[in-house]
Amino acid sequence: MTTEEQTVNSTPDDDTPIGRVGFGLFEPATRANPYPVYHRLREQAPIYHSPAGIHIFSRYADAAAILCDPRFGYSEPRAPLGRALLTEHDRTGLLRDDHGKSVSSFLTRNPPDHNRLRRFVAPSFTPRAVARLAPRITAITDALLDTALASREVDLVESFAYALPFTVICELLDIPAADHTMVQHWSHTMARGLDPEFLVPPQRVEQRVRAVLETAAYFHELSAQRRAHPGSDLLSELATIEDNGDALTAPELLSTCLLLLVAGHESTASLIASGVLALLDHPDQLARLRAEPGLAAAAVEEVLRYDPPPQLVFRATLTDLTIGESFLPAGTMAMVLLGAANRDPAEFPDPDRLDLTRATQRHLAFSQGIHFCLGAPLARLQATIALRRLLERTTTVALNGQPRWKPNVALRGLEALPITLR
Ligand code: HEM
Repeated sequence: MTTEEQTVNSTPDDDTPIGRVGFGLFEPATRANPYPVYHRLREQAPIYHSPAGIHIFSRYADAAAILCDPRFGYSEPRAPLGRALLTEHDRTGLLRDDHGKSVSSFLTRNPPDHNRLRRFVAPSFTPRAVARLAPRITAITDALLDTALASREVDLVESFAYALPFTVICELLDIPAADHTMVQHWSHTMARGLDPEFLVPPQRVEQRVRAVLETAAYFHELSAQRRAHPGSDLLSELATIEDNGDALTAPELLSTCLLLLVAGHESTASLIASGVLALLDHPDQLARLRAEPGLAAAAVEEVLRYDPPPQLVFRATLTDLTIGESFLPAGTMAMVLLGAANRDPAEFPDPDRLDLTRATQRHLAFSQGIHFCLGAPLARLQATIALRRLLERTTTVALNGQPRWKPNVALRGLEALPITLR
């Protein structure tokens, strides 16, 4: 066996789900800083055939190549329990097609379905379309900062980092304010469920499935109202859109809404909060950004590299293939560690240093290839405005307690960031 393909690295009797992944990956103790484990993995077994049966890729070059390789894609079932529970609980068939098959969003579809579905939404998220939102995003940011500055001691996640993108996506879809708390609860539950199924207790998988179905039922009703009385919001547009005689079917519309809701704010919230923490951990970079607010966009890019919210994505081989010395038969599961690729010294010199002047967008925080994040322009705009206004409106941003990380491994983020603002 080559060092590239180690199979066992946990103690032989370690049969916990985490033990089955090996290398100490995803241990709760490394939640605050998983990067030393990623370095060890990349150095010792960059193509790691884990005891869980998954091939794990941690080098930048392999990760980027896989994400752009059409021989990798989605083949079900990646999450057999979730899929089975969804079929069992979806009694009214909200998320099933005419043949009774569960419909997933285009995030987990291969061409040609992927392109067909992404095309309906793409025009709303171009840099130009998104730039029109800048004044409103700035106004929401300033209103949140007014409140935060008035109380001085805040949890920056709740009061700012999360509140901003959540408000923005709710406004885009025109979700009534009275429903925000309920929608937020569903979204958190769905985001937690993005972790690999074998790491998640079955009751959490079940909670996720219930949240998916409740949110789908909610959007089903809301889209019926919008079809009857269309407004200028994105949900009205998707509910009524026609593209050369093609339209979204009812379950396709719902799966798209679920994707936009969760993807549209959970990772942006993590980015803003992790960005502030990364700057507090690097006072020289924070001082530099205060002195040169024009560096805000570059700072966002560097935080995306340094501590990306999505730490990993899954793919499956759609055909037999060989990478390096590893043979991967069709149907092999591959885990691409975006967080590890972004700290690969072969691509980013001195990768553990936050350096706002790196001036590169080559990181993999938004993935690559056909699934490259559709919301990247919106995420970049929101995070840039958030960081810039936070520093322009304050003279002091200081930690006043212990930051707390969410238990999630796939979508990494802070649960709480206690901050004093002046
Ligand atoms: C910091 C913020 C964000 C990050 C780091 C991020 C990251 C990602 C990543 C890594 C993927 C691809 C997953 C894969 O390759 O399997 C993705 C896909 C996607 N993201 Fe984002 N995202 C962010 C914000 C947003 C926002 C604001 C929206 C929309 C409102 C959004 C919408 C989407 C959609 C629709 C996809 C699916 C694209 C496809 O499969 O073609 N994201 N995002």
